[in-house]
Amino acid sequence: MPIYKFPEGFKWGSATSAHQIEGDNHNDWTEWEKSPARLEQLKKEGKDPANFISGKACDSYNRYQEDFDIAKQLNQNIHRFSIEWSRIEPEEGRFDEKEMQHYINVVKALRDRGIEPMITLWHFTNPIWFAKKGGFLNIDSTKYFTRYVKYVVENLKDKVDLWITFNESTTIYSSFSYLIGLFPPQHKNIFEWRRANRNLVRSHIEAYKEIKKIYNQSPAHFNIEKGPITSLSTPFPIPKVMSHNVEVGITESNAHVVIGNNFVKRIIGKLYSYYRNLYFFTKAFPHYDFIGLNYYSIDRKVFKNFDVLPSQELVSSKNWEIYPKGIYQRLLDLKRFKKPIFITENGIPNVTDDDRIKFIEDHLYWIWKAIQDGADVRSYLYWSLLDNFEIKDGFSVRFGLVEIDYNTFERHIRPSALEYAKICRENVLNI
Ligand code: BGC
Repeated sequence: MPIYKFPEGFKWGSATSAHQIEGDNHNDWTEWEKSPARLEQLKKEGKDPANFISGKACDSYNRYQEDFDIAKQLNQNIHRFSIEWSRIEPEEGRFDEKEMQHYINVVKALRDRGIEPMITLWHFTNPIWFAKKGGFLNIDSTKYFTRYVKYVVENLKDKVDLWITFNESTTIYSSFSYLIGLFPPQHKNIFEWRRANRNLVRSHIEAYKEIKKIYNQSPAHFNIEKGPITSLSTPFPIPKVMSHNVEVGITESNAHVVIGNNFVKRIIGKLYSYYRNLYFFTKAFPHYDFIGLNYYSIDRKVFKNFDVLPSQELVSSKNWEIYPKGIYQRLLDLKRFKKPIFITENGIPNVTDDDRIKFIEDHLYWIWKAIQDGADVRSYLYWSLLDNFEIKDGFSVRFGLVEIDYNTFERHIRPSALEYAKICRENVLNI
């Protein structure tokens, strides 16, 4: 049986986002989920609106310790989660210390279990006051976002060294919110889309600079020679290095875009592929320390071209064509930016667990191969640790390594999670 060994220090884990797991949020999405227009739209599509209101989600705001116990039991050593801006700054300029303390406790709970926190500062949702000002269409959005980032990072700088500013801000968010009208505020306006893109890139760059400034001004208390401390209840060791190795990245979604088989199709396909996969990394360059890559499937939106790439056998419950080799091609293509790459999401949304471990293993094989061919890949984070509220598709979508019973909030570890746990423990893929 072939054995594929991953580089020493490779990080294994899973990812979540605040709105999808915490419960009881109050942001622009919770408003939208309950708006008459949204409910009407769901009714027209014959869908049960209850499935599309995030409500208590997984109740992880209260159950995060239990979730992290499971992650530890599954041998995971990194965990990506997001901070909910609307909790930290519920009203313009009013920062909520209690909520900040909550996230400090969350980070401490991870460190106590020997799990490295990777924090996303923005994962699709906005405070209501910010959305009312036009969100990222507002010329001042960079100022608002950077102020929030500064507050959070100053409070966590001693405990965290991996930050992600935005999740899929241009690859998914701006196009879904402003171009094709699937995310709130459901606009379809190419000029707004371009404006949001520009403001998002600008906001990332300013936030990046701000975070670097905070860490340089006041080096965090990590003993880098000995690695991150695992218990925050013990006093911090005296730092041996004067500047902290904080790494600030961006996460974007990439897909295997099927391009054309003639000149015109190739040009159009490449242009689409640029916006789909490379826009943010190009525009924000060089202001990021790593690339966060979310990879799920093939994208045939522009060209079907089954003669270029035949249809794949495995199609997920979200109708995504699964193509593990695509992650290899994306990783090699992203080498052009010469930055380390963290795989920050990869997963399958099926209710049954049947295809999950094969999905993981097949992708890991191609990641391993990309590493052999020179891609600097540092981590694999499965999406998601838990079943959760799929941002516009509701609760019936089940990505979790852990199944959630939404009546009792009981957590049940799926068989695939135990198989993945062996890979995490051994740092080796054995297929
Ligand atoms: C997002 C997640 C989402 C996942 C599965 C990514 O686009 O970052 O929030 O749940 O894909 O659709």
